[in-house]
Amino acid sequence: MRIGLLGFGVVGRGVYDIVASKPDIEVVKVCCLEEVSLPDAVVTKDFNDILTDDTIDTVVEAMGGVHPAYEFVRAAMEAGKHIVTSNKALVASCYDELLPLAKEKGLKFRCTAAVGGGIGWLSEVERSRRVQTIYQVGGIMNGTCNYILDNMTRLGLDYNDVLKEAQALGYAEANPSTDVDGIDTWHKVILSSNIAFGVSLNRDQVPVAGISAISAADVENFKAHGYVCKLISTGKHLDGKYSVYVHPTLVKSNALEANVPMNYNLITLVGDTSGRMSFYGQGAGRYPTAYNVVQDLVDLLEGRGFYSTYGESVDVDNSEALTWYVRGSWPGAADETWGDAVIVKNVSVDEMHAWRKENPGVFIAAIAE
Ligand code: HSE
Repeated sequence: MRIGLLGFGVVGRGVYDIVASKPDIEVVKVCCLEEVSLPDAVVTKDFNDILTDDTIDTVVEAMGGVHPAYEFVRAAMEAGKHIVTSNKALVASCYDELLPLAKEKGLKFRCTAAVGGGIGWLSEVERSRRVQTIYQVGGIMNGTCNYILDNMTRLGLDYNDVLKEAQALGYAEANPSTDVDGIDTWHKVILSSNIAFGVSLNRDQVPVAGISAISAADVENFKAHGYVCKLISTGKHLDGKYSVYVHPTLVKSNALEANVPMNYNLITLVGDTSGRMSFYGQGAGRYPTAYNVVQDLVDLLEGRGFYSTYGESVDVDNSEALTWYVRGSWPGAADETWGDAVIVKNVSVDEMHAWRKENPGVFIAAIAE
C-alpha cells in the first residue's frame, strides 16, 4: 500500500511513526504546511503532487476541518484513491456525499478514528448493526473536555490552565472552542447516530451546549450534592422518534461516566440484543488516534471498506423533559436552589437550549436520572 498523507500534525505524525514498522504500508508523500524533512517520504506543500502520483493508491487525510479537506478527499477519490480519514468535521458534514462516491468508484473509505480516538467505536457500531437494532448511542466523546472537567473536579485546577495543558498535550483542536463549546462532540454524535440508526439527521435540529461557562464554584456545587459534571452526548431512536443532543450532564459520583479520567472517552451503545455495551479508551492524542487510522489501513489491505451509506433524512425531536442545573437568571420557577444556581424540573431539551442561546454566559447542565 502506497500512501499520500495529508497533514503532519498530531495525528499525521503519529500515523507516519506507526507505519514505519509495517513493511506492507509505505508513506510515500506527505502534504503539509510545516517545514519538515523526512528520510523516507517526499514532503510537499502542493496537494497536486499527491493527486497526480499514480503510484499512490491510498490517501490518509489527517488535516482536520471541512475545507480544503473535502475538496482534497473528493479529488483523490475522483482520481481512484482509497481514503482513510480521522476528520470528524469532514465526515459528519460530508459523509453522505463521500460514501456514495466511494461506492460508485469502487473505492474503500474508512473513518474509525473520527470518533473515540483509540477506541475503534465506529467499527464496533458497524459490527453491532449487523446483528441487532441499536436504539441509543452516546457518552463522553471529547478528550479535551474530559481532561478539563476531570482536572477541575479532582484537583481543583483552573479552567484556563487545564485547557492550555490539553492543548500542549495535543488533545485539543486547532481552535479549542471547537472542543469546549461542544462542536466536536456534536460532530461525533451526529456521525455515530447516522451510522447506528441508518439515517441522515437534520443537523440543524441537534442542539449543543459546551463547558466554556463552567466555574470552579459550579464544580464545588456539584461535589457538595454528590455529582460530577461531564460533557455527554445522546442519540436515541425510540418509538420512531430521534432525540439527539449534547450538553454538560451531572452524573452521580459513583456512575461509570463520573470516573472517566484525563483524556479518556466512554462511549456506549444500547441494542435490542446486547443491551448496554460501553467502550473506553483514550479519545484524543497522537498515538491512540493514529492507532485507529493504521487499523483502518490494515482493514483496507484486507479488503474491508467502510460503512453503510446513511439512510433517509430525518427530523430530530427534542421534546424530552429533563431536570437541569442552571446558573443564570432562569425566568421560570425553581424547584431547588444550589448556591447561586437553581434546579429546574420538567423543562424540555429544546426549551432549555433555546433559552441558553438567548442568554450567553449562563451555564446549564442536565441532571442524569
Ligand atoms: N479534540 C478532540 C478531543 C480530538 O479532544 O477529543 C479527538 O477527536
